[in-house]
Amino acid sequence: MAQDVEFFTAMRSAMLPLVTASALLQVIDRAERAGLMRELRDGADTARLTAATGLTPETVSALCAALVANGVAESAAGGFRLTPDWRALTGPGAWVPLGDIIAQSRVIDAMLSGRESAYASLSPEDRSTFAHAVSPNPYSPQLVERIRAEIAASPWWSGMTEGGRHLELGCGVAGRMLTVLQAMPRLRAVGVELDPDLADEARRRASDLGIQDRIEIVTGDATTYRSEEPFDFGFWSQWFFPAPTREAALASLFANVRSGGVVRSPVFGDHGRMAADPHGDDARQYSLHRVMHDGWGVPERTPEQLKTEFEDAGFVDVTIVYHDVNDGIYARRP
Ligand SMILES: C[S@@+](CC[C@H](N)C(=O)[O-])C[C@H]1O[C@@H](n2cnc3c(N)ncnc32)[C@H](O)[C@@H]1O
Repeated sequence: MAQDVEFFTAMRSAMLPLVTASALLQVIDRAERAGLMRELRDGADTARLTAATGLTPETVSALCAALVANGVAESAAGGFRLTPDWRALTGPGAWVPLGDIIAQSRVIDAMLSGRESAYASLSPEDRSTFAHAVSPNPYSPQLVERIRAEIAASPWWSGMTEGGRHLELGCGVAGRMLTVLQAMPRLRAVGVELDPDLADEARRRASDLGIQDRIEIVTGDATTYRSEEPFDFGFWSQWFFPAPTREAALASLFANVRSGGVVRSPVFGDHGRMAADPHGDDARQYSLHRVMHDGWGVPERTPEQLKTEFEDAGFVDVTIVYHDVNDGIYARRP
């Protein structure tokens, strides 16, 4: 029989790491909102941090001590600066701004705990918060450059450098399309989004970036959307589509893409890595995401299951690609 563990021993080994991580996220959030994280990027002393944030020297010291103790910042030249991971997370090439990641985490907490329910029934603010954090930041020139290089090197997407028409089913606030369109100046795109607020925000961002003439955002249901002019490329945000909508969404993707056209959909989790380490970061994160998707009515889709779903919809050459931000299923319409 397993031996009983003393309460405080268990508290220290099982509970404290969770409570500490949660508390640290709050402190980082506060430091970010106060402008402290920005100041710490290049290093600053307490006097400068106090002047820049308007916080008292005592509060700056307490926050910096917490950031240092938790590996977010380090002492440097009489002051403090962010550690390399946190410089990357707050840098100009960040996939998503730090504030958006933290805000999304609050919405995810509420959904995981069951306080909020499906994505479709979140408040408009929470839905927007969530949508911002799942798309790349189209306002980052570094990210646009990175996407340009990745597309040019992709055996599936490189045709976009010549132009063509791109369709995204479930485009949210269009971070992905707006980044891709800037990277591929000859490409045109249509995004279909059910939520009118997100669709408005997508249009506003397109105008903001000066590329509204190359993008159309359709407010409507992706499962019934049909274009008269076929698309060369398609993207399906599959993990937002509940079970009853999936077959029709894939039929729509199939109907709207031309013969030979390339489609893509994101997948989650490297299942080989998860099997090798069932308690590793990959497996832990995947299992928690599953709880959220379950709340949305979205069924589990391992890469193999998603591949079968695409094959059943008539696509060919269905391939699972593991390549950092390009993880996903790629396929062609025959
Ligand atoms: C948040 S976006 C994903 C962002 C974007 N595709 C990206 O990868 O950057 C996914 C969107 O799919 C939308 N969606 C879900 N079902 C839909 C449907 N039947 N028709 C249109 N949009 C749908 C959701 O409203 C959600 O905003």
